[in-house]
Amino acid sequence: MVVSENTSKGLAAKRFADLVRERTGGYVEVQVFPDSKLYKDGEEFEALKNGAVQMLAPATSKLSTMFPEWQLFDLPFAFPDMKTAHSLMDGSLGQELFADLQKQKFLGLAMWDSGFKQFTNNERPLRTPEDFQGLRFRIMTSNVLKDQFEALGAQALPMPFNDVYQALVNGTVDAEENTISNINTQKFNQTQKYLTLSNHGYLGYVVLTNLDFWQGLPPQVRKILEDTLREVTIWERERAGEMDQKQLVELEQEGKLKITRLSQGEKLQLQKSLNPVYERLSKEIGQDLVNRVIRNSRKGE
Ligand code: LMR
Repeated sequence: MVVSENTSKGLAAKRFADLVRERTGGYVEVQVFPDSKLYKDGEEFEALKNGAVQMLAPATSKLSTMFPEWQLFDLPFAFPDMKTAHSLMDGSLGQELFADLQKQKFLGLAMWDSGFKQFTNNERPLRTPEDFQGLRFRIMTSNVLKDQFEALGAQALPMPFNDVYQALVNGTVDAEENTISNINTQKFNQTQKYLTLSNHGYLGYVVLTNLDFWQGLPPQVRKILEDTLREVTIWERERAGEMDQKQLVELEQEGKLKITRLSQGEKLQLQKSLNPVYERLSKEIGQDLVNRVIRNSRKGE
């Protein structure tokens, strides 16, 4: 994984490793490599395909170059709360997206949370669409994220996660979007001046394995791994929610970042400016899929 060990994803991977060791009496050893220590963004899918690693937990956005439908999770303001994101991934659309992964010999095992993304930057508090004009944002590789910033008159630069801190320090980009957990553990708060609490986008993960590897496991081992993962998934989602709230309080107390909270009206204004993102994605993957996300979102409101 690319994130630090002290995130909900990092802690859950470690918990999975510990429980699996215990439950298989040491027969299965899961090794966890945080902080892009083995592979960085852009290298990880090949490593999973060729068997250099057996499991990954990338952000859904990073799957979208190979599987454009996964951009649905990147749609701005599509998830008013976590429950809405979970109902999409745990429902029929989630199953269809998972089935697609098998075309490339990947098997999706679970979905984990990081949280909702917020904007950080070095220039000014971001409240209105105009405030985004001309800023350079680092993004994950997803066209919806690129469109999102372009619709606001900003530039979007795709970049591996482990290069972001340095890019913010040396000014290659002046802004980024991420969850409180990533902002905190990557120390973006040390190099950025402003944080806007917008909850505009969902950041979640797919726990992926190599289909042939998984099918080659002895059935009783596979069952222990799958049962354990199911249990750890519930645990991970709870931790993600708790850590998000706790770390926001810590950032506020630290007082280094100037924090802006958007009013409902400001959110609606931003949301309106982002309509072209929905139109573009509908053209790429079909109106029907996008409508299913919109319907799911309305149920959550
Ligand atoms: C990012 O690249 O910003 C995130 O995907 C990192 C992560 O895995 O949470």
